[in-house]
Amino acid sequence: MRKILVTSALPYANGPLHLGHLIEAVQTDIWVRLQKMLGHDCVYVCAEDAHGTPIMIRAQSEGVTPEALIARVATEHARDYADFLIEHDQFHSTHSPENRELTAFMYARLRDAGYITRRPVRQAYDSEAGMFLPDRYVKGGCPKCGTPDQYGDSCENCGATYSPADLVNPVSTVTGSVPVWRESDHLFFRLGAFEEMLREWLATDALQAGVRAKLEEWFEAGLKDWDISRDHPYFGFEIPGEPGKFFYVWFDAPVGYLGSLRALCNRTGRSFDDYMRPASHAELYHFIGKDISYFHTLFWPAVLEGSGFRKPTAVFVHGFLTVNGQKMSKSRGTFITARHYLDHLPAEPLRYYFAAKLGPGLDDIDLNLDDLVARVNSDVVGKLVNIASRCAGFVARAGGTLATALPDAALYDELAGARGRIAELFNARDYAAAIREIMLLADRANQYVDHHKPWTLAKDPARAAETLAVATEGVNLFRVLMTFLAPVLPRIAEDAARFLGVPLDRWDAVATPLLGVALNEFQPLATRLDRKSVAALVAAGTPTAAPVTRAPTTATKTTAATPATTVADIKDFSRLDLRVAKIVSAATVDGSDKLLRLELDVGDRACTVFSGIRAAYEPAQLNGRLVLMVANLAPRKMRFGTSEGMVLCASGNDDAQGLFLLSPDSGAIPGMKVT
Ligand code: 2FM
Ligand code: ZN
Repeated sequence: MRKILVTSALPYANGPLHLGHLIEAVQTDIWVRLQKMLGHDCVYVCAEDAHGTPIMIRAQSEGVTPEALIARVATEHARDYADFLIEHDQFHSTHSPENRELTAFMYARLRDAGYITRRPVRQAYDSEAGMFLPDRYVKGGCPKCGTPDQYGDSCENCGATYSPADLVNPVSTVTGSVPVWRESDHLFFRLGAFEEMLREWLATDALQAGVRAKLEEWFEAGLKDWDISRDHPYFGFEIPGEPGKFFYVWFDAPVGYLGSLRALCNRTGRSFDDYMRPASHAELYHFIGKDISYFHTLFWPAVLEGSGFRKPTAVFVHGFLTVNGQKMSKSRGTFITARHYLDHLPAEPLRYYFAAKLGPGLDDIDLNLDDLVARVNSDVVGKLVNIASRCAGFVARAGGTLATALPDAALYDELAGARGRIAELFNARDYAAAIREIMLLADRANQYVDHHKPWTLAKDPARAAETLAVATEGVNLFRVLMTFLAPVLPRIAEDAARFLGVPLDRWDAVATPLLGVALNEFQPLATRLDRKSVAALVAAGTPTAAPVTRAPTTATKTTAATPATTVADIKDFSRLDLRVAKIVSAATVDGSDKLLRLELDVGDRACTVFSGIRAAYEPAQLNGRLVLMVANLAPRKMRFGTSEGMVLCASGNDDAQGLFLLSPDSGAIPGMKVT
């Protein structure tokens, strides 16, 4: 019996699961279920990826502790995974005692073996927030093409990569202040010391060709030391012996696989060492997306080796999920959270669709919702379930017990005999080929029923035995096919097992047909999907729980033509400090034909806001006017000065419809809260 440990990438504990997470979870879950059905001792562990700056900042912006945030998100994630029938043997968290201990242990081993070095790093520092800023938390003009508002690592316009120090007019996205540059000591993992080992590992079957090619490129570029420390404040584990320094989230995240394994072992009495000692015969597989292969194919094997553990048997990398041919994007409405999908459609159709499209390579997988409906209706309902529903009634009418022999044993053997081949395709992660093969067999089964027409036979009482025999054959063919699809459609398989009166949890059980046994009452196993549900899914938009951390523009628009979906809860609203403000003076801005500079009286204070309303208002019209403003936005440094809030406007879909400042009725006074 093989002993197998499987993981999929740990989701960050600061946002909802989306279909991109789900395709990986489904891919992994199918694989694990197959191994279990084959009789192997296979366990699937995963965890919340709970550390790092984004989680710390998000918690701050919500006014909760990081611990509270990650606990809440973990509950949501657990519900989503469960509803998609993802069966983890252990779902843990990187913010756990097991992970703390393992991370410290592995670090100590690396340090004692001389794989850790220390050197100063110069980094952007936000003096207002009192924290060092990761590259993505500094924005400014691209040093190459000048496009404003670019992240500190790369330009979305021209693709240039650079360091935040190169940005023109950099600002911290945390407070809007201008960062200063500060030095502090960081700890580095000496990745280069593992080059030979990694090259050897590369020569094994551990990696797909596409990943191998990428690794070659990285070797060419030279393996650089990896900065594994971050300074206080940071939500993570403090590095033992290094006060004020924390492990970088990407150091303790993969260790989280082992933290979860440790928790599993503690709970079930398994031996952790059996999995992780260097000469272990257990197999270790990581399912990941191609964006994080650097961490899993370079750092992680090196960290494992350097700290005295075994390396992964293989890393299975998949491509990205696209929706209707496009990258998932909030603005295009193709960003679909797991929950949003489940609000409109059941999980198994998506599992089936993903399986039908997943190959063993790194190609992107496109989700086309119309195609999903067509495919599921034709394959799962029209071909698979149909076999059972066409035959069940004739068995019931004959007393509910299957015949004692198959009329066409050769056909049964043809289907059951495909099990080795199909298991091999699933095992090789060529799910698309496995599904194609299964559907060809389903066609054979349907042809059999079509050809023998039990509904015609049933009309002749003299042919009752023949009718039962044909129905028995049909039910048996269904059982084989359903067994093959059980890793993909576990709930339908469970319902089918109830009907058949036998579990469908062993791959090889199909070697023997089901004869002479009583069936249970047949209940519909799957119903056709309605195109209207898909339309509703799309029309309902794509709710996301993204936090409001800072102002995207200086004027926020309330657009009547495309009403927002009901995703904000009252808490989101209450996080905004909306106030009545009086425009004390308004002026045009040199160098901008869009902005007006507004000096506002907000009751107890004055502030300046740059607002994109130049096209709609002459400054003179505005003096003395009351408006509504968002008063608690992080100040935003612009070319012309710092904007300290937003005034609210209504607008149509296009500029021609105009812009309309929102104002309270007369009588309101500056500083009043908008509730
Ligand atoms: O990219 C991500 O979403 C990470 N949270 C994945 C971590 S996988 C592992 F290394 F922990
Ligand atoms: Zn650029």
